[in-house]
Amino acid sequence: MVTSDEFREAMGRWPTGVSIVTSRDGEEIHGMTVSDFSGVSLSPPLVLVCASHDSITRGVIAASRCFAVNVLAANQRELSNRFASKKDEHRRFEGVAFGEGVTGAPLLDDAAAIFDCRLHATFEAGDHDIYVGAVESVRLRDCEPLVYFGGSYDRLASHTVSEA
Ligand SMILES: Cc1cc2nc3c(=O)[nH]c(=O)nc-3n(C[C@H](O)[C@H](O)[C@H](O)COP(=O)(O)O)c2cc1C
Repeated sequence: MVTSDEFREAMGRWPTGVSIVTSRDGEEIHGMTVSDFSGVSLSPPLVLVCASHDSITRGVIAASRCFAVNVLAANQRELSNRFASKKDEHRRFEGVAFGEGVTGAPLLDDAAAIFDCRLHATFEAGDHDIYVGAVESVRLRDCEPLVYFGGSYDRLASHTVSEA
């Protein structure tokens, strides 16, 4: 049997980006930090995110049937921490510049990339739900993405070297 610690440590060897997954249900906007994001299909364009059963975001996506994946830039660690913290969770968007996507989900102005999605399918998997989104629009900004590895934020070595 694999323990939670073993599993967490092994998953830590898999470098990921960091995103903020946002959604809007009527007047309510919400978002949380997510690293469990992947492309699924090219044609049609589909992505997936995994949301813990404990997360508020899960309920908002289930109700609104839309979400946006905002891929964070290397200088957005503070935003990642803010959207992961349970402290002041209803004030996460304060001072953050954002607009609205075609789905209604909040799109963060300074994100490195944005995938605005309608909910395509939901799968329950252990203590998480897998949300598959049909990508309705994408937006890109030319900047270095934030990296998450071994439980810490990091940067792409190629960018770090080229800046030296
Ligand atoms: C780098 C990082 C990655 C995370 N990735 C995920 C994830 O993929 N899925 C998830 O459910 N929670 C993830 N979390 C935890 C949530 O961001 C955190 O539990 C948040 O408080 C949930 O917010 P909510 O309950 O308001 O939706 C991550 C946290 C950090 C710091």
